[in-house]
Amino acid sequence: MSQHPELPFAAAIEVIKSLLPETLQKPRVGIVCGSGLGGIVDCIRDVVLVPYKMIPGFAESTVPGHKSSLAFGLMGPGDGVPVVAMLGRFHPYEGHHMRTVVYPVRIMAKLGVTEVIITNAAGGLNPKLSVGTIVVIHDHLALPNMTGMNPLLGPLTSPRHQRFIPLSDAYSPSLRRLVFLAAHHLSLDPSALAEGTYAWVSGPTYETPAEGRFLRLAGADVVGMSTVPEVLAAREEGLNVMALSLVTNAVVIPDGYRSIREEVLAELAGKRVELPVADVVSHEEVLEIGKAKGEVMMKLVEWVVGSIPCN
Ligand code: 6GU
Repeated sequence: MSQHPELPFAAAIEVIKSLLPETLQKPRVGIVCGSGLGGIVDCIRDVVLVPYKMIPGFAESTVPGHKSSLAFGLMGPGDGVPVVAMLGRFHPYEGHHMRTVVYPVRIMAKLGVTEVIITNAAGGLNPKLSVGTIVVIHDHLALPNMTGMNPLLGPLTSPRHQRFIPLSDAYSPSLRRLVFLAAHHLSLDPSALAEGTYAWVSGPTYETPAEGRFLRLAGADVVGMSTVPEVLAAREEGLNVMALSLVTNAVVIPDGYRSIREEVLAELAGKRVELPVADVVSHEEVLEIGKAKGEVMMKLVEWVVGSIPCN
């Protein structure tokens, strides 16, 4: 494998700092916003937007529903915690190289971020999860990692990085505790916030019914096309990670699959059968649920950010 082309870290940091007041130059929490969840910017005070196209090494997000800026500002009660939010992220399915996908997280680490909060829209595999439920990710199943497409393949981007990254507690237990406490403080119904395992697939196709059943059998609760690359880079950079999925649609039909054979045989025998029909998911539907339920996600993130203990 060839060497990584030199990533323009120093130039990016210089540009970003030149555009920010002193108070916002060292963000503590980094936030990565998923499809339709960029409204988090409304919870940030004294916002300074830095468009991706001004930052060396950054790509443009091409997905509808994603803006393309870093939002710097303060979040939470009192003086507020300095944060940086990515409004729009990069996915491998857009044609971005993995090192581009995870570059913003590395930039966050270099700016001084110690905690990363990642949100995404995901399909529900666990039949107990209804659309609109928020899932606190406690583990992942990264299919690309198991098939030679791990985002961290290749030479290290810093001599300080470890070659082999343990992932047994990739999703910070203390941050996960904070989200459940946040849900209580915000008087959410306990059913609004679940915990589960996220299956990462490359996309851009959604799952076939058989793939959905496969992932469910393998133990995943939700499935999506993002987040894991950023989690891996964040762990390599030594950051604490919290990730939330908003369930925007159901992938697995609890009753199994629709058998045309059974339907035809029943019809020929003069009987009527109602067999389950799988959901046809659309990106518009994903964005719509994001808009409707994104606010709950934002409130949870805001509360967690305001409650992260100072070290
Ligand atoms: Cl159903 N699948 C995947 N892979 N990603 C999604 C999704 C489904 N719904 C939202 N994001």
